[in-house]
Amino acid sequence: MDLILSRRGFILGACAASVAAAVPTMADTKPALHVLKDPNCGCCSAWVEIIQAEGFEVTVEESTGTTLARYKIDNGIPQGMGSCHTGKIAGYVIEGHVPPADIRRLLQERPDAIGLAVPGMPYGSPGMGPKTEREAYEVFLIRRDGSTEVFSSYGAA
Ligand code: CU
Ligand code: CU
Repeated sequence: MDLILSRRGFILGACAASVAAAVPTMADTKPALHVLKDPNCGCCSAWVEIIQAEGFEVTVEESTGTTLARYKIDNGIPQGMGSCHTGKIAGYVIEGHVPPADIRRLLQERPDAIGLAVPGMPYGSPGMGPKTEREAYEVFLIRRDGSTEVFSSYGAA
């Protein structure tokens, strides 16, 4: 998925290599947001900083290539829902550039689900460049059976 963003000249670097397909399983439970990310991925770090600035406690674990891809599979991220970094909070998986507001809503509503995903790396999502140049994207809720539904939508700027 080397993708979507090149038209704006955004540098994907190692992030694109981390985007992978998967099959569902269970997630574990952790109070803080634990994030696996490629050390060379600038957009992952930018997302982590935004999440921290929003008051989340974040622990980062560097991971790359097939290890990271495997982690996505083992944590139930279905095919087509993959992005760069993979987070876990309170038993939910947070895949990709999910906005903090959606994570908060997830933790409030506590649906019986695997978690949230923003597939690919939409330009203008948190950590992916200015909101003022945002392309339209959706946050998906991943159900336990691997099906997905739209959790929230962000319009183009
Ligand atoms: Cu990214
Ligand atoms: Cu990332």
